[in-house]
Amino acid sequence: MHDFQYHQNELYCEEVPINKIADKVGTPFYLYSNHTLENHFKVFDSAFNGIDHLTCFSVKANSNLTVLKIFVNLGGGVDIVSGGELFRALNSGVDPSKVVFSGVGKGIKELEYALEAGILMFNVESTQELTTINQVAQRIGRKAKIALRVNPHIDPQTHPYISTGLKKNKFGIEINQALEDYREAKKLKHIEIVGVDCHIGSQITELQPFVETLRKVKELVLTLRQEAIEIQYVDLGGGLGITYHQEQPPHPREYASALIKEMQDINCTLILEPGRVIAGNAGILVTKVLYLKKGTEKTFVTVDAAMNDLIRPSLYGAFQGIQPIVKTEGEEMVADIVGPICESGDFLAKERTIPCLKPGDLIAVMSAGAYGFTMSSNYNSRPRVPEVLAREKEFYVIRERESYEDLIRGEMIPEFLNK
Ligand code: LLP
Repeated sequence: MHDFQYHQNELYCEEVPINKIADKVGTPFYLYSNHTLENHFKVFDSAFNGIDHLTCFSVKANSNLTVLKIFVNLGGGVDIVSGGELFRALNSGVDPSKVVFSGVGKGIKELEYALEAGILMFNVESTQELTTINQVAQRIGRKAKIALRVNPHIDPQTHPYISTGLKKNKFGIEINQALEDYREAKKLKHIEIVGVDCHIGSQITELQPFVETLRKVKELVLTLRQEAIEIQYVDLGGGLGITYHQEQPPHPREYASALIKEMQDINCTLILEPGRVIAGNAGILVTKVLYLKKGTEKTFVTVDAAMNDLIRPSLYGAFQGIQPIVKTEGEEMVADIVGPICESGDFLAKERTIPCLKPGDLIAVMSAGAYGFTMSSNYNSRPRVPEVLAREKEFYVIRERESYEDLIRGEMIPEFLNK
């Protein structure tokens, strides 16, 4: 459930009419509900109350400081994949001992930064990375806590771009190879083995792939114990899907109870890295209709948001719901909703049945709270849009709209061109 609902045909976020926000901040903008974010986090996290666990929100899904702070205040940790995400997370006040660092290509500076900060663990993707972490830790006089990210070779049956747990994917160490790599890791003086990690993909709408993965991971944990390699943490990554259209993913409670069952006999803390399931349906992108164009084959509604603001439809052919901010009785039309960018791939929806719209009307692109703003860019020199948080009757701009000056910040013209 989310907090974007109609009252007398007008869409509200919590108790704020979205029109009112548009009047104040202009369009387009991202809008999040404080209550939905809190509620989704609490529902997810409390579903695991039966066992030792830590919910580490995946920062890549939504990295706004305010959004992170909401989860930090609820006791959450974070899953990061870069120095930049660590910087954001620390600025949101996260406890460094609740930070896990994933990602296939961590650089030396990022490793140093995270070691200095004292994070909970590095999810290591290769033996070369392990050697590098050991060297960096030695140089700065620390011990790095690590888990190896294993690739369990399980098909999560999701979009190929967001499937990560197959041998053909670039992620992790093949699970059959892991024992040997753990033995090598054990020999490294500045490495402390604490966990086993894995993440099989995103927008997964079945339980089975998670359960099978956890079984394989459990087997590995037990084998490692026989070799006196103690494992404290099992990190199962993120990946639980949401309803964008007609998907029927398991409820977090079903997900949790299936996992809890598997965790019974291994005495480990379970780490989860949810992103989408918490933030996805807690945010929308609000955009204004600029023009209507009726061709012989198609009708195009050109709006002021584009693929640079929300790339999921263009990149994955993803479905995002479209809803008018003010509902009208009357006719419907079938149209492509497109942005102002000079690419045919710039669309937010295709062949969608929507109410008849006219220039100036506002629409909401639904389910845009995860991988929305974080994947936005300045393509076509479009300033990135503001982010707004609604809470009860109030709303707060939590990131300003970028200005033209922001677009050229850091650029300079070499002297030889200034004739
Ligand atoms: N942990 C790791 C190591 C990950 O790589 C990811 C997502 C997550 C956790 C969080 O997954 P979630 O719970 O959100 O499914 N841009 C794509 C999604 C890419 C996901 C990348 N990794 C999209 O818009 O659908």
